[in-house]
Amino acid sequence: MKFMFLNLSNISVNYAGQSSPAVNQVSFGLPAGDIGVLIGPSGCGKTTLLRAVAGLERIDAGSIKLGGELVSQVGTSVAPEARQVGMVFQDYALFPHLNVGRNVAFGIDHLPSNQRAARVAEVLALVGLADQTSRFPHELSGGQQQRVALARALAPRPRLLLLDEPFSNLDVDLRERLAHEIRGILKAAHTTALFVTHDQLEAFAVGDMIGVMHQGSLHQWDTAYSLYHRPATRFVAEFIGHGVFAPAVIKLVDGEVAVQTPLGDLTDMSECPLPCAFAGGACDVLLRADDIVHDDDAPVKAQILRKAFRGADFLYTLRLATGETVMALVPSHHDHTLGEWIGIRAQVDHVVTFNRDCPKSHDHVCRMPCEHIAASGEVTQPVLWHAQVPSGAARSLGQATT
Ligand SMILES: Nc1ncnc2c1ncn2[C@@H]1O[C@H](COP(=O)(O)OP(=O)(O)OP(=O)(O)O)[C@@H](O)[C@H]1O
Ligand SMILES: [Mg+2]
Repeated sequence: MKFMFLNLSNISVNYAGQSSPAVNQVSFGLPAGDIGVLIGPSGCGKTTLLRAVAGLERIDAGSIKLGGELVSQVGTSVAPEARQVGMVFQDYALFPHLNVGRNVAFGIDHLPSNQRAARVAEVLALVGLADQTSRFPHELSGGQQQRVALARALAPRPRLLLLDEPFSNLDVDLRERLAHEIRGILKAAHTTALFVTHDQLEAFAVGDMIGVMHQGSLHQWDTAYSLYHRPATRFVAEFIGHGVFAPAVIKLVDGEVAVQTPLGDLTDMSECPLPCAFAGGACDVLLRADDIVHDDDAPVKAQILRKAFRGADFLYTLRLATGETVMALVPSHHDHTLGEWIGIRAQVDHVVTFNRDCPKSHDHVCRMPCEHIAASGEVTQPVLWHAQVPSGAARSLGQATT
């Protein structure tokens, strides 16, 4: 098994006076050199988790290992300064009276001056500010200041770099550019990093692995592709991308999976994850805005409830005659009016379904085997249906639906 440079095992953090833990039984591993991203709504515990990794917050359960060394467990905690962890926070506070070079040199004053100067030059070159050494923070743009803060954190060669919403006070354009840049910089420095954001595009641009958190729990720790196409919980499915669930029925037709939805049958899909067996095939299917195609000839019509202009496309919120609401991304030259009925069809390659009997609450984190099915004595293994390998999966599905 791959060695995890940072390893969290079932960690919990409870703040005094709070009824529920800020971080609840979180486990994940990050290999050396990888960038992990934590994403989730405000108050879900991202900063608390980062502070626990830094040694600034004691943990109430579980353990944290860094480079194989146990740094946190109940009753023991290696001091923050002994962990060799670097941090960049939202309010990165450069020293205003020190120039760029001296700001960056701040954490490496134990080095002989020639080595210190060389290291400052090296990290400033890495963040693209080699020629700005003698400038003062107020003479730099917000993005340049943020890169100085990054250089300052990298200078002592931390074993792990923690970044907590480092771009949140920058404007959107700059954030997007910096997100791509920072990935390049961290990779060039061979730095293992854990990055917190609540911006999905930023998470996708920066992370090798992404963790989605909600109310202290980690719902999924996965690649961006898998989070999008194989969400482990309803919360992840709705949080990543714009989507709604619609009632559907999974059927096996001639050994092929078909999902009957209010928009017609979905067939010819490349993948249909079946997290667990569904009694009678009854499930909820995720319909994302980019799965819904506007087509005047489609037999299914929907009425426009809301529309949002997004430049290249409109995000339409639509209501079907059967009452379900769906969203659709439609190229912006199709400028329809509110209340108008337009033709739509679903075009889904990766179909995401959840057991209709499962709790709809976002607090619910699916664990396999499914406890709801276990209660009824019909436990089945999770199945991932691929168009190319229908045999075994189709058999399982057959058992599940017949
Ligand atoms: N020092 C503290 N004492 C008590 N409760 C706290 C403390 N710090 C955070 N909390 C609570 O713990 C929960 C998690 O907070 P945390 O700051 O980790 O969230 P976050 O995911 O970083 O949110 P945001 O995206 O807004 O920064 C919240 O309910 C918060 O109110
Ligand atoms: Mg925070």
